[in-house]
Amino acid sequence: MDRIAITGGAPLVGEIPISGAKNSAIKLMAASLLTDQPLRLTNMPRLADTRFLGKLLQRLGAQVIEMQMADGPETVLHTPEIVSALAPYDLVRQMRASFNVLGPLIARTGHAKVSLPGGCTIGARPVDMHLKALEALGAVIDLHEGYVYAQAPRGLKGATHRFPFPSVGATEHTLLAAVLAEGESVLENCACEPEIVDLADCLNAMGAKVAGAGTPTIRVKGVAKLHGATHAVVPDRIETGAFACAAAMAGGEVRLTKTRSDFVQTLLDKMIEAGVDVTTEPGSILIRRDIGKRLVGVDLTTDPYPGFATDLQAPFMALMTTAKGDSVIRETIFENRFMHVPELARLGADIKVHGGEAHVHGVESLNGAQVMATDLRASVSLVIAGLAAKGETVVNRVYHLDRGFERLEEKLGACGANVRREKGGESEMDA
Ligand code: EPZ
Repeated sequence: MDRIAITGGAPLVGEIPISGAKNSAIKLMAASLLTDQPLRLTNMPRLADTRFLGKLLQRLGAQVIEMQMADGPETVLHTPEIVSALAPYDLVRQMRASFNVLGPLIARTGHAKVSLPGGCTIGARPVDMHLKALEALGAVIDLHEGYVYAQAPRGLKGATHRFPFPSVGATEHTLLAAVLAEGESVLENCACEPEIVDLADCLNAMGAKVAGAGTPTIRVKGVAKLHGATHAVVPDRIETGAFACAAAMAGGEVRLTKTRSDFVQTLLDKMIEAGVDVTTEPGSILIRRDIGKRLVGVDLTTDPYPGFATDLQAPFMALMTTAKGDSVIRETIFENRFMHVPELARLGADIKVHGGEAHVHGVESLNGAQVMATDLRASVSLVIAGLAAKGETVVNRVYHLDRGFERLEEKLGACGANVRREKGGESEMDA
């Protein structure tokens, strides 16, 4: 397994281009199953997760062609016919977003057998809301031997359905099915994340009739067929936020380009409150912190969008480890998302966890150590902390990072960070 070694202390100066959003790209790839015509996705991130989903889609009958064009990476997905409606345990277990092929498979073929994803390190992550919404659309669902068996032999039917919580995955999954259902669906208490708007935009470009994405109520007028389209993946707001925290942690001046500041406004507000200089322009964000200027501790609570993103909780906590004073960080989305805490403590951070709250008491400085990445966003928090720690920090289990950060060490290295990848054996995935 690869490791990333960081020698802390170098300021970051330069420009970091942000890639297309992983969490959008994988849902857009699943949307390609809804049509027998090609879907061309531009601004595609090249990540372990997108490669992995590509393999599953190929098993189901998709041709997946990746191309490097002058203006960036593209993927063309084309499924003339669904050759198998089975997503096996091994593939869904390794990447839970694979579960999202269930809706498109039922919508296109009237049946599917998809493994239940199981829990992962950040929490139990059930899929009850996905299944209830698909049932509301008329799918008949049976669960046995760890699999979801779904049938809708006469097609899905539009319905009014209210999510008990604005789940990102359940909202997206329901959209992926409702677009081909007969009649109108009204989905209430939907998640409002930018990735949902992106999915709706792509589906509309394919001929769907989706209105209201980005608000709690989404209306979908089902159509009989979707067609091919070209769609650009939105910028990755979590990569944007993580690099913003990295720049603030290391000190210096970094311009994040090819991104959108409105996607990370809540984070930027917290960074400004902590003492970071933030300047936004259309398509870019400039992050500045003078070396020697200590930030101050600020409190935050994670919430569904536009609240503070749970995926940026660990990166922001890394930033708070050396801020002056205290910071109380509340995690409300996932029940087990403080696994970076003991690893940050290995670098000298002073953090105490009480239930869903972490109390961070800022220390003057961190010291490099060996640490273990436990999940994707926790891993990047360790890299961020390592940028400011004295001496060398080695982040083990880098395969977590590779799931969601494209060329991380290259992007940081181009701004002067002393980061290198040490090659190891076989990589693996488990979340
Ligand atoms: C998406 O996960 C993202 N993943 C997560 O990013 C992100 O942290 C999360 O949204 C919140 O923003 C992808 O898009 C692939 P949810 P998702 O459904 O869709 C509970 C990363 O690192 N719930 O909004 O799974 C659930 O357990 C990942 O890129 C149910 O109880 O998130 C959680 O507590 C990590 N039943 C809460 O709702 C359900 O059927 C929110 O989950 C579904 C969810």
